[in-house]
Amino acid sequence: MADFRDKVVYQIYPKSFRDTNGDGFGDIPGIIEKLDYLQGLGVDYLWLTPFFPSPQNDNGYDVADYCAIDPKFGTMADLEELIAKGEERGIGLMLDMVFNHTSTEHVWFRKALAGEEEYQKYYIFKDGIPEQPPTNWQSKFGGSAWEYVPGLKKWYLRLYDVTQADLNWDNPKVREELKEVLRFWKNKGIGAFRFDVINLVSKPERMEDDFEGDGRRFYSDGPHIHEYLKELVKDAGIEDFVTVGEMSSTSLEHCIRYSAPKEKELSMCFNFHHLKTDYKNGDKWALMPTDYRKLKGLFMEWQMGMQKGDGWNALFWCNHDQPRIVSRMGDEGIYWRESAKMLAGMIHFMRGTPYIYQGEEIGMLNAHYPSIEQYRDVESLNYYRILLEQGKTTEEAVATLAARSRDNSRTPMQWNGEKYGGFSEAEPWIPMSAGFREEITVEAQQKDSDSVFTFYKKIIAMRKKYPVIAKGEISFSETGTDMVLAYERMLEGQRIVVLCNLDRKKQDIKVDGEWGSYRILLGNYKQREIDMEKEIYTMEPYEFIVLGNVEEM
Ligand code: GLC
Ligand code: CA
Repeated sequence: MADFRDKVVYQIYPKSFRDTNGDGFGDIPGIIEKLDYLQGLGVDYLWLTPFFPSPQNDNGYDVADYCAIDPKFGTMADLEELIAKGEERGIGLMLDMVFNHTSTEHVWFRKALAGEEEYQKYYIFKDGIPEQPPTNWQSKFGGSAWEYVPGLKKWYLRLYDVTQADLNWDNPKVREELKEVLRFWKNKGIGAFRFDVINLVSKPERMEDDFEGDGRRFYSDGPHIHEYLKELVKDAGIEDFVTVGEMSSTSLEHCIRYSAPKEKELSMCFNFHHLKTDYKNGDKWALMPTDYRKLKGLFMEWQMGMQKGDGWNALFWCNHDQPRIVSRMGDEGIYWRESAKMLAGMIHFMRGTPYIYQGEEIGMLNAHYPSIEQYRDVESLNYYRILLEQGKTTEEAVATLAARSRDNSRTPMQWNGEKYGGFSEAEPWIPMSAGFREEITVEAQQKDSDSVFTFYKKIIAMRKKYPVIAKGEISFSETGTDMVLAYERMLEGQRIVVLCNLDRKKQDIKVDGEWGSYRILLGNYKQREIDMEKEIYTMEPYEFIVLGNVEEM
């Protein structure tokens, strides 16, 4: 099995990364242009979100053809060049496989709509009348999860947008088609895959109303999920690949099974529980300050649980669906730099494989769009309407989007201080973040030895240098406050201790006698020492420290 423990994955949202032909839309040549930058940062894999032909109703997660490139992004020759040039730099590509659903523009769905029964069996169609959807399940983007096709007198299931029809994995032909897709990309030289909402693909045979929730309890980690995953990975011949599954509303028990090597399913899992600690009653659209007790508890539970079960976590704060972490749990003002570094370090030293989302390495902020006109995301536009229907004012609805919209992370990458941040010479498809400033650009931070960027470079290099980070055991220490997280990593004689103050205020922690023999390996404040004579160490706002008995970098 490929070793993925000492690797770091960098996620690229091609649409917003770099536009080379002046159409305001990022492209594959733009990624090629930035390969030296990525090599300099030190990452091993680039996860590219979908660039396949797509009507772009969900920014490419509505795939119309799994084995081609959307001309907006470039050509197959561009991708082949990217694969080859990546390889020269020791950088592999991780492609995003959206196998829960296809676009309704996909030829399979078009044939289904045209009445071909064989292709209707590729999807989840149910006979019915227009007034009565088969179940009361809700779409993740709002509204019913079912769409009626009058011509066929049938409903089809769509857990996401109306133009994203769920595939029927119980049909062996569908599973064969998807294996073919993996083989196609494998033959092109791709060595890693991310599987989009993969734990939703196995639906229950009998579908019933959900009187407790939106239906997710029936199809998340569904009845045949482990069996289907094993089959897919084995038959496509990707057991040795680096693979990560995006797991929606999952459980620790299932994630252990998805990622424990002996199960031969996936290398690792994304779960989102830690990113729901600021959801009021679990509702993404109901704002609440982060519950730090819960946040800490979840990290401890998942880290210890996955370790015990021999599973493996994908470590992350940011992606193309999440608000920027510095805006969310850090500070956009005077502690911007400190909090960005602390949040980075907090997850990068845990047990798992870290993921960096484009712009995170320079501490990019939320979009702060002043009105609905700036938003592009289908989920945001749907929920804006729903919030108004619920009686919210436009100000309230805009404030909710400002905190929760997926567009917060989709603003153009900030390469330099030009009008469009060096992303494009033309007006970008989505406006720049209102938090865009000179300080938060690649160009400025590459020159600054104290920048967020330099810090990311350092923590990536440390993972390569000290096996204890990639392979050590983890344990957590009691700190007496919800605002300070402390953990230790151990491998043979090597030990490191990681201290994170999540608070905007100072926090006192008890000094551990053992630290006396440790050096400070990394921190986000200048020249701090822990006075071993004192019992208490006062951590500065958002302070982050790594101590250890390994030699200094
Ligand atoms: C995943 C993707 C998200 C997409 C959804 C449906 O959650 O990350 O962007 O909208 O799946 O494909
Ligand atoms: Ca372009």
